[in-house]
Amino acid sequence: MAFEEVARLADVPPGKTLRVMVGGRAILLANVEGTVYAVDDLCTHEDSSLSLGCLKGEFVSCTLHGSRFSVRTGEPQDPPATEPLRTYPVRVRGEIVEIDLPR
Ligand code: FES
Repeated sequence: MAFEEVARLADVPPGKTLRVMVGGRAILLANVEGTVYAVDDLCTHEDSSLSLGCLKGEFVSCTLHGSRFSVRTGEPQDPPATEPLRTYPVRVRGEIVEIDLPR
């Protein structure tokens, strides 16, 4: 495990998302009722940033064609997307959000 700092907790309050770049990869952080999740920011259908969509509960919607994804599991809930988002382990240490990116 190699957790690295990606954001401050205050930058991703409950009900909000935050796009961060880590190692050249765009990651979406999402705070669902105090728990922060991390998934790939790019929709698996086409190249649209999920940071443009809104978060409702654990589901973030893609603004391009409307698929919703669970930020907890990465699984798409509606077509046209069929492939899950990659998810990443998150830990919060005090005010710092860290994620574990594969090397
Ligand atoms: S690009 Fe996201 S649903 Fe099509």
